[in-house]
Amino acid sequence: MNQLVVYYSRTGTTRRVAQAIAEVLKCDVEEIRDLKNRAGVLGWLSSGMDATLKRLTKIEKPEKPPELYEVVIIGTPVWNSTVSTPVRTYIVEYRNRFKQVAFFCTQYGSQSNALKDMEALCGRKPVATLMLRRSQVETGVFTDAVRQFYMQITR
Ligand SMILES: Cc1cc2nc3c(=O)[nH]c(=O)nc-3n(C[C@H](O)[C@H](O)[C@H](O)COP(=O)(O)O)c2cc1C
Repeated sequence: MNQLVVYYSRTGTTRRVAQAIAEVLKCDVEEIRDLKNRAGVLGWLSSGMDATLKRLTKIEKPEKPPELYEVVIIGTPVWNSTVSTPVRTYIVEYRNRFKQVAFFCTQYGSQSNALKDMEALCGRKPVATLMLRRSQVETGVFTDAVRQFYMQITR
């Protein structure tokens, strides 16, 4: 069974998790690239607004066609308790081409609607989910969680 990890990361946390998952699964990985500049305080503010208003953005065309993979594993940072705008855009543009899906998110706190919102956007139940706090990622304490996520995907 082949898998693709697709993720967006504004400040590197979600990228770290995406790379760890792709390493464990030995699978392809693709970063979603947003054409909007989200750097600095202004980028942070407009990102929060975009997320709350459920806006879409312009993203670069991905290199890897999602329909070639049995499971598309989608990762997002949490923005204002929901999925980040670039990941929302990716799902809306490509959801008709997914077979099975799995989701992961990184966030500062411990609660959000991001995973449920991704499920609703994709219109299907994920085979696995993983939520990590930023502090877990920064301290490197997420290997076991990634292993459990891997086992749910491959069982
Ligand atoms: C615009 C914005 C809104 C955020 N909203 C939340 C939130 O509602 N809840 C939360 O726990 N963390 C929130 N965060 C923190 C990020 O989810 C967290 O730092 C994440 O790990 C960043 O991932 P990244 O480094 O891959 O961009 C927010 C961050 C940004 C930039």
